[in-house]
Amino acid sequence: MRTPLIAPSLLAADFANLQSAIQMVNQSQADWLHLDIMDGVFVPNISFGMPVCEAVQRHTTKPLDVHLMIVQPERYLEAFSRLGASVISVHYEACPHLHRTLQQIKQLGCKAGIAINPHTPVEALQDILHEADLVCMMSVNPGFGGQQFIEHTYDKVRRLRRMIDEQGLQTLIEIDGGVKQSNAAALIAAGADVLVAGSFVFCADDPLQTIAALKQTTA
Ligand code: DX5
Ligand code: ZN
Repeated sequence: MRTPLIAPSLLAADFANLQSAIQMVNQSQADWLHLDIMDGVFVPNISFGMPVCEAVQRHTTKPLDVHLMIVQPERYLEAFSRLGASVISVHYEACPHLHRTLQQIKQLGCKAGIAINPHTPVEALQDILHEADLVCMMSVNPGFGGQQFIEHTYDKVRRLRRMIDEQGLQTLIEIDGGVKQSNAAALIAAGADVLVAGSFVFCADDPLQTIAALKQTTA
């Protein structure tokens, strides 16, 4: 029986009330807190930056799972490591020297993640997978919360699971975008380890119970 790690995405929180959003996550069964950093270049949206992350870090008790949707992420790795990030994911599509970038993340003492857009085949990771602690598979086009889950993701998760198992790796598969209770079990069955959920958690009537239910999903 496999139970997932749950990483609520703060992007869907009420930004005028961040402290209560963070306290809710602290009290919840969430495993990580997912931070979406957008630069308006790699993705057509801007979210929040370092000053906000520093404030979040002061209040959270959960490990920070930082998802960098930015060009040239190398420029900010040290800053996010100083912030105490547990995981830093950079986009495959934004990193011409991905091997070097993953080494830098690990040298800074963080877990190194590769994020891939919906159009990027998992097979493109064949020769870099062994360097990654996590693959953040986008199940929507990055840039916005609240989008519809792309069904083709299940097939990609199964293929990536096979690659990881064949290589005997411990790399975690994280699913990001459109995750809800109705697709959680199928994602875990396909091989997912970590579920990111933004709007499904923060727009719920009872976010604590919503996180608990996701956490209890098994496959
Ligand atoms: C999208 C972000 C996601 C987003 C998920 O670019 O990477 O982490 O916050 O939001 P939902 O769960 O609402 O699709
Ligand atoms: Zn994300």
